[in-house]
Amino acid sequence: MKHTLLILGATVIPLAVPMAWAEPPTEEAQLPDRQTQLPSSPKLEDQHYLSPRPLNTIPQGAFGDKVRLGYQLFVNSQQLRDKYVGNELNCVNCHMDAGRKPNASPFWGAFFAYPAYRKKNDKVNSFEERIQGCFTYSMNGKAPPSGSPELVALSAYAYWLGMGGLMDQYGVTGEVPELADAELLQGGKRDDFPVPAAISAALTTEQRANLPGRGYPAIPKPELPYDPARGALVYEAHCQNCHGSDGQGQAMGGVYNLPPLWGPQSFNWGAGMHRVNTAAFFIHENMPLGKSIQLSNQQAWDVAAFITSKERPQDPRFEGNLEQTKASYHKHDGYYGTTQDGTQLGKDAFPNLPPKP
Ligand code: HEC
Ligand code: HEC
Repeated sequence: MKHTLLILGATVIPLAVPMAWAEPPTEEAQLPDRQTQLPSSPKLEDQHYLSPRPLNTIPQGAFGDKVRLGYQLFVNSQQLRDKYVGNELNCVNCHMDAGRKPNASPFWGAFFAYPAYRKKNDKVNSFEERIQGCFTYSMNGKAPPSGSPELVALSAYAYWLGMGGLMDQYGVTGEVPELADAELLQGGKRDDFPVPAAISAALTTEQRANLPGRGYPAIPKPELPYDPARGALVYEAHCQNCHGSDGQGQAMGGVYNLPPLWGPQSFNWGAGMHRVNTAAFFIHENMPLGKSIQLSNQQAWDVAAFITSKERPQDPRFEGNLEQTKASYHKHDGYYGTTQDGTQLGKDAFPNLPPKP
């Protein structure tokens, strides 16, 4: 374990810097889908996490307006329903506390991790392209075009969260420096990306790209192979009160305050959350809501298996041949193309970007 020293006034706080993250599995790296699985590291004890500035400190003016719009799109993505969003989810359902919560794939952790270069195909994934991926898959929608006001706003919000938090952490006062749209859309993982000297002195570009709390923390493999039938019992006991016995969540006046976990209004078969491991990591850390960590590792894997073994909207990369889509894109922990309760998942998958009922 390496330590850097964070000097804030007279206090000296040792800050743990996590080891380099494990390389993602190679078959994942081949997916031409911009949904490459995030490298996940286990949580460390006594971890210090970046703390974003309060939202009421978003500045006035044109730049602040972009940040504010980004926040609004993030927490109420339904304003883009039928245009770019094809289900009843909002970004905040999986990136919790408006993208501010560590270990819930925080938006501040993501900004400085892009552009990400993939060795395998030598392709660059900019920040806006990564967001486009979540629209296509997690939101079962359609990606806003490159450079669109929506992508600029979301990028500005992520940058403001991350940069403000780093400035506070390293004793840099003042407003978050404004950035041109093109810089925002690229993301902050560049050696020539403008950061205050106190921050670049403390963190390398690579360390900035792997801030503690990024992604969902890995939990160990379960002792028994994960099992949807055991997961159904966990679901009944710990989840169904909120998400419903049918997994369809709950809406009031057409607005979902409890999101659907499967079925036509949830994330699709290409989304990161349909992978059993990713869902298990998310659930173990973040669900049941408001109860902190309650489930055992085994329960988290089993209930993740249960919710990911139900039909959902089609993988947008499907071109008519289920076996082929499965072989090309689903070499991981997931149920796409497998037979559950006598039906092959993906065969009667729900449509992508359906009109709001
Ligand atoms: C159904 C849950 C879900 C929803 C809704 C969702 N995401 Fe994600 N998002 C994920 C998962 C899961 C990952 C990580 C993928 C992985 O580990 O392979 C991710 C990753 C990301 C990343 C990269 C994070 C990083 O640290 O590299 C960004 C940026 C992102 N999402 C933005 C968004 C935005 C913007 C929205 C709304 C338009 C959104 N997401 C909606 C589940 C979701
Ligand atoms: C107290 C109510 C409550 C309970 C209990 C609960 N959830 Fe959630 N869950 C939520 C809410 C609310 C969100 C959205 C979080 C947000 O927007 O901040 C959510 C989000 C999710 C998501 C990501 C969004 C989506 O629709 O896919 C998953 C997956 C999930 N919950 C699974 C579970 C599982 C599995 C359990 C049981 C172990 C569980 N939840 C228990 C309220 C709850």
